[in-house]
Amino acid sequence: MKTHSDITHLLNKPIRNEHDYYHKVVYPLLDILGVPEEFRWPQFPIRNPFGSGDLRLDYLLYVQDVPMVIVEATLAKEAFADGFRQARNYARNFETKIDEIRDMTVPFILVAADGDIRMFRATPKGINIEYEPLDGFLAWEEIMSEAQLFEPRDMAQLDFLRPAVAPPTKPIARPEILQAKLAEQFFFELSMALKTVDSLKDASGRDKDDAQIMLMNRIIRAARIHDEAAIDRACQEAGLDKMMLEIVEAALKRYQQKFTTRQFDGPAVARAYREFVSKAFTGESRSLPIRWGKQVRYENTARYFTPTEIIQQMVRLCHIQPTDKVIDFTCGSGGFLAEAAMSVPDEIAGDFLVNNVVGVDIDPFCVETTRTLLGFLFPDRADEVKVFLHNGLYAKPHYKRYSDDKKAEPYLVAGQYDVVIGNPRATFYSGGNEQRVFKLWEERYGAIQHTWDHLFFVRRAIELAKPGGRICLLVPDGFLANSQFQDLRNEIWCQCEMRTVISLPRVFKNNNAKMSILYMAKNPRWHPLWQVMMASVPARLEHPSEDGGIEWVPTNIFAELEGVGELFEVVTAENAELPASNDR
Ligand SMILES: C[S@@+](CC[C@H](N)C(=O)[O-])C[C@H]1O[C@@H](n2cnc3c(N)ncnc32)[C@H](O)[C@@H]1O
Repeated sequence: MKTHSDITHLLNKPIRNEHDYYHKVVYPLLDILGVPEEFRWPQFPIRNPFGSGDLRLDYLLYVQDVPMVIVEATLAKEAFADGFRQARNYARNFETKIDEIRDMTVPFILVAADGDIRMFRATPKGINIEYEPLDGFLAWEEIMSEAQLFEPRDMAQLDFLRPAVAPPTKPIARPEILQAKLAEQFFFELSMALKTVDSLKDASGRDKDDAQIMLMNRIIRAARIHDEAAIDRACQEAGLDKMMLEIVEAALKRYQQKFTTRQFDGPAVARAYREFVSKAFTGESRSLPIRWGKQVRYENTARYFTPTEIIQQMVRLCHIQPTDKVIDFTCGSGGFLAEAAMSVPDEIAGDFLVNNVVGVDIDPFCVETTRTLLGFLFPDRADEVKVFLHNGLYAKPHYKRYSDDKKAEPYLVAGQYDVVIGNPRATFYSGGNEQRVFKLWEERYGAIQHTWDHLFFVRRAIELAKPGGRICLLVPDGFLANSQFQDLRNEIWCQCEMRTVISLPRVFKNNNAKMSILYMAKNPRWHPLWQVMMASVPARLEHPSEDGGIEWVPTNIFAELEGVGELFEVVTAENAELPASNDR
């Protein structure tokens, strides 16, 4: 390990411009750490995790196919926090088009900016990855030896460095990062096997997503407690033939030790599970079971999950307290519920989850996924979570095509939540039985002029909140901008105190929807000096180009959004100083 005193002499040099900074600080820094030139990749291209275009890292330090350290360096004044945010968001969503480097959470980042240089390592926090500071800097031999934990593709090629690359006796990289990668691999192997099973498809060959994920989760649950008989039973009931059963058993055997030692639990594995589900089961043509009389038929549905970093910032806006009751009534894969539960102190998080947090979704696939996700985070509380299959718009079943769970009803009564959070569906009304549904809505809210889903959801969110309750939704931009929704906006502004609107560029993979975060509190306490923060994260930002001109580069959306979140804290603190007023 190199210490800060090994590098402090780099920080006091007079620097003329960005190029000079690289010559006098960044290259010498990599030399001090002993990084050979062939393992430094300047301007390494990565996919923009959300949004279009590629982004470029200042440097990637890698060992064979394993990306080990992202280096972000800038001369700009007061840019350390920005550089850190950039590097962190690149590192936790690291995806590249370059085949020779694998996609994975990058275990370390190195930030040089604003007269400071620090190294950080990846640490799971909730369903997110955070980066915590190290006490010094990993030297190249240590980076090499840490890389061995991630089993680089071809260690033989590193033979000339063999004496230096024994695996570390006391690893610095967090083992959960590695476990998560293995867990994701296991989820894919299991799901690939189950995807070929006939009984998990409907008559037209369409995947029964819900049946597949239920079987998968049953197998995972049984593997956790080493109940092989239960695994066999689950597979037989699902109609797996002998050959398929053998494939499943072989996959389980490969990973058995991970289950036995409980390495397949915890936040990093929960994140890996959500990533697996997003990759394998989201997009335009997924399937949803619908009841027709006594029959169940699978219909097409589009399924998208909210990006983790957006969830994180939305939960942060809400300042969730341990006494708050929280609901996401369109919970999808359970991202908001997981983040909400992890936002209270660790020692009460499990109790908070099972007593104060409620999830509802109309899609059995999502209910199953959410329960499993929360089970990875809180394995001992998995059976107690309050996640229900129900139409979130109604407290009672209103339409027989969905198999509403009666147990949800008490949790769907209006006016009981301190926080209503989520990312409701945003299309034209798509639930069937239109005449009756619109009549019901008219009875509840008077005339309804438009039939976009989110208009129902925003009203319902307000209805579920208690007086003073906070409502934080990801809604289509159109809701806030289109003149046709002015009446609805007026209706909402009469019922709620606006806190912030943050307009985002396109954030869903394979979906062009442009969304905004809408955060408000039920029942207005307007004050003439009250500040409402209106912010916008653009898709591209101006950047000085090498030829001295200006170029437009894709925004690191999450880093920008985090900065907006920090600004909101300032605005909130200033508003808190104002005396309460009903002066409107
Ligand atoms: C954009 S997704 C939410 C994703 C979720 N925030 C996540 O992180 O995974 C919208 C969800 O709304 C659900 N949904 C649609 N109509 C619903 C209704 N009437 N009641 C409850 N859930 C509904 C869909 O099944 C879908 O899971």
